[in-house]
Amino acid sequence: MPETIFVLNGPNLNLLGTREPEIYGHETLDDIAGQLEDRSRELGLSIDLRQSNHEGHLIDWLHEAQALPAKAVLLNAGAYTHTSIALYDAIKAIRTPVIEVHLSNPHAREAFRHVSRISPVAHGTICGFGAFSYMLALEAAARL
Ligand code: DQA
Repeated sequence: MPETIFVLNGPNLNLLGTREPEIYGHETLDDIAGQLEDRSRELGLSIDLRQSNHEGHLIDWLHEAQALPAKAVLLNAGAYTHTSIALYDAIKAIRTPVIEVHLSNPHAREAFRHVSRISPVAHGTICGFGAFSYMLALEAAARL
């Protein structure tokens, strides 16, 4: 059985493709899933990509990643990145490495995006490369 990488996506990321394309690009989450699936096959891995607009789902899935166990989690928590102590606690509570992913570079945007609750407990962070951020994070996860 190939090892699994969870790719967890938070609020509003279901709208990728039409949501502020000048910031987030034109690719949909399905497009990204397809690219990750192709590359993960080459790497001998499998991916399990999910999206929810609900914080608790992301927390349940982080727990599930550890229980499975998944090899790693790529997490784009959307705006929960900047607010969620519950996600901070969940990442801290599991041993599965979590790689924080963003399409945009939050540090180059509004001040409220400069704080990440996730970065202090993430294995690493990749941001600013559009949809390719996910691919870079997958390459990093494969080498963990
Ligand atoms: C995002 C950046 C967040 O600040 C924002 O709230 C998102 C998307 C990104 O991928 O660039 O929803 O996580």
